[in-house]
This record gives sequence, structure tokens and C-alpha cells, in this order.
Amino acid sequence: MAVSERFYTMSTPFSRELVDECISQLRIDEVGNATIREIVALVNAVEEKSSDKFIRMEMGVPGLPPAKVGVEAEIEALKSGVASKYPMIDGIKPLKEEASRFVKLFMNVDVKPQGCIPSVGSMQGTYSAFMVASHVDPKKDTLLFIDPGFPVQKQQMFVMGCRYETFDVFSYRGEGLRTKLESILSKGNINSIVYSNPNNPSWICFTEAELQIIGELATKYDVIVMEDLAYFAMDFRQNLYTPGEPPYQPTVAHYTDNYVLFISSSKIFSYAGQRIGIMVISDALYNRDYENLKPRFHSNSFGNTITQRVLYAISSGTSHSAQYALAAMFKAANEGKFNFVDDVKEYGEKARIMKDLFLKNGFHIVYEKDGDQLVADGFYFTVGYPGMTGEELLHNLLYYGVSAISLKNTGSEKEGLRACVSHVSRDQFDDLEKRLVQFHNDFPLN
Ligand SMILES: Cc1ncc(COP(=O)(O)O)c(C=O)c1O
Repeated sequence: MAVSERFYTMSTPFSRELVDECISQLRIDEVGNATIREIVALVNAVEEKSSDKFIRMEMGVPGLPPAKVGVEAEIEALKSGVASKYPMIDGIKPLKEEASRFVKLFMNVDVKPQGCIPSVGSMQGTYSAFMVASHVDPKKDTLLFIDPGFPVQKQQMFVMGCRYETFDVFSYRGEGLRTKLESILSKGNINSIVYSNPNNPSWICFTEAELQIIGELATKYDVIVMEDLAYFAMDFRQNLYTPGEPPYQPTVAHYTDNYVLFISSSKIFSYAGQRIGIMVISDALYNRDYENLKPRFHSNSFGNTITQRVLYAISSGTSHSAQYALAAMFKAANEGKFNFVDDVKEYGEKARIMKDLFLKNGFHIVYEKDGDQLVADGFYFTVGYPGMTGEELLHNLLYYGVSAISLKNTGSEKEGLRACVSHVSRDQFDDLEKRLVQFHNDFPLN
């Protein structure tokens, strides 16, 4: 019997009919192209109509309680009455100062408090920085994403009507990255380069050599690097929590002055609900005048345009109490009193076990290495299954009660899925194993 025929006669943990009925009720044309939120709605719908639970790996949300030091500081701030007062658009002084210290102590990067600006999540930070960068030079009208990447950032670009290009970095690691970037940057139309490090979705981390390449080329072609550090210090292969001591969180900031760093509180401090992150603009870029910003924003310098024009227009700053929370979390981390890395290490531990279960059952890790090192175990990992496209794999795994998102959605050219470990609890590992064993039995490899 052919595999497909065998499969149709087998019973799966969740009935095919139920899953397919929910897919059509939600008007999802092809599950492989569904957005993260559509997969969430689909799995909710299937779970509602069955007695069993999915192993949910589709959404990248924190699975840990918020950092206590942040919650306490925020309550204090609210009690003291900050809720009635507009915060400064470019951030309250204690936050700017602690953020500047944080990048010094954990990255060994010097940036004045002036350039450390809170935003309503890193989402608002990237939105404003992408908007300004898209207008610094009429010839440089295109932003370059080093993919795979975080899909919502592309949504930001089309909401703004701004142009972008992308390429999948899979085949361009090491020196290959230089050749690829030169071939794109030499066209002269790129204003910025965007990537996340550690990377959502693949969890690759650029090596120092790769960051150096990006930094050198950014200087050579005068483009801005937007380094998204949503998973700051979460490359657990090294211990990145020792304030003021190496090893530091790797960054392009050591190799160019044209950078904006985005540090989100959502994952490292499990503070996603309060929507606060910090944008760190290098001193040089903050104060740099771009003639083209004047006609568009009535402002010259990069830093002023972001704060006094864009952030003012879109939200007039970031929640006052959340700024006190973030200031307190940075302060405690800076003073060696809050080892935020230890608090989130559980993600890496779970990833190690879960990856092993997948590997034992015929799956492979799609983005497997950084240079000659295996990628770290962390918040996400990528899996593929021989003979199946990412779309087919996702669709089939749903019948086995395992959900994830297709790598296609992230700008990857590889076949496979992104799995997020945060919402899988350890007591689900047995179920995960049973389901993967059955999947592997039902789809045996030659
Ligand atoms: C790479 C990346 N950047 C940014 C964000 C969003 O961060 P925030 O919650 O601070 O808006 C996420 C969240 O999943 C992310 O994965």
C-alpha cells in the first residue's frame, strides 16, 4: 500500500475529519500558508471539539511568569501617581541611564542615555526606525531583511508602503555572507539591514566573523544595521550573565557606528504584556543629519526624527509605569542582583529534550549549525521530515496533535517548520514522544 493510502486508513490522535472541518470553517486555503494567529485559532477550534490537548508550538509567547522586580516597581510607580502624567517621549531619565549601563555591562558597547529610547514593544521600535531609515536618502529606498525572520516586521513594511528585499541566509554563512551582501549593497538602493540574533525562527546566531562582515559592509556602503535582540543573552552555549565581564552578548555594534539595537523585555524578562522595549541608537547615528529627512519629517537628525516626529505622532511615548518596571529590571541586572538569563534557561533545557525526541523519530534540524558548532538549544528550533514539504509536514502533524508554523512564512527557502518550546510543559513530553513515534511509524523512511 502506498504511504498516502495507508495513512488514510489509520486512526490518528485527532481525527482527520475534525481537523479538516475546522480548517475549512476558518476558511484557511492552505494550512502551510496560514499566519501564526490562524494556526492558533485552528488549534483552539480543534481542541474545543475534542477531549485531548495539542502540543502547541506555534506561537512565540513567554511561558514563564513576569520578572518580579519589574512587577513590583511598576506597582510602586502606579501607586505614586505616574498614571496621570504623560511620560517624556524619549523616555524617563532612570530608564535611559540604566539602559545605557545595561548595554555597556552586557555588550561592552558605549551609548549615551540620549540614544536609549523606550518603545511600545520592540514592534514600535522597529516600526519607527524602519520608517525613518526608509527616508534617509531617496536613492536608498529599500530595506534588506536577512531571512529567515519575524514575519510581522514585513507586515510593518507593507503597512507603511515601504520597500524591502530579502534573502535566506542558509546558504550564505561565513565568508559567503560577505559575497552575498556585497552583491546586494553594491546596487546602492539599500538603506538598512535587519536581522534578529539569536534568530527567530531558526535560532541561528551569527558568529563574530559574520557580525564583523555585516558591520564592515554597513560602514562601506553607508547603510544602517537594525539588530533585533529580542532574545538577548539567550544563546545558552555560553553564560552571558556576568555584568561587566566577558563573554558579552555578541553585537554588530563592535564593528560599525551605523546601528540601532532593539532590546525587548518580552522574552528576557517575560514582560510581553506590558509592551515595552528599548531602542538603542548609536551616538553617531542619533546625531547624524540626513538632508532628506527635512522635507519628509520637518526634522534633520535621525534621533530627533524618531523621537520628536515619529514616536510623538504614533503614541507620544511608552507607558509611564512600564518604563519604571524596565528601569528597575535593568538596574537589578546591572547590579548583579537579577540573573535574568538563569530565569529563562528552562527554554534551552526543554529544547534539548524536545529536539532529541524529534531526531529519534526521523526528523532533522533544518538550520543546524553556526560555523562548525551546532545551534544552541533555546526558544525555537526548526525541524524537517524527509520527503515532505513544510506545508505537508504541518498539515500531517496537526492530525497527531502537534502544531507549529511553516518556515515558508518566515522567508526561508527551506522545507520545514518552526517549533517554539515556550508553551509545551514538561508533563507533555510523554505525549509528544508517543505522537512522534506514531507519526514515524505511519510515515516510515526508506
Ligand atoms: C525577533 C523578534 N523581534 C521582535 C519581537 C517583538 O518584540 P516585542 O514584544 O517587544 O514587541 C519578537 C517577538 O516574538 C521577535 O521574535
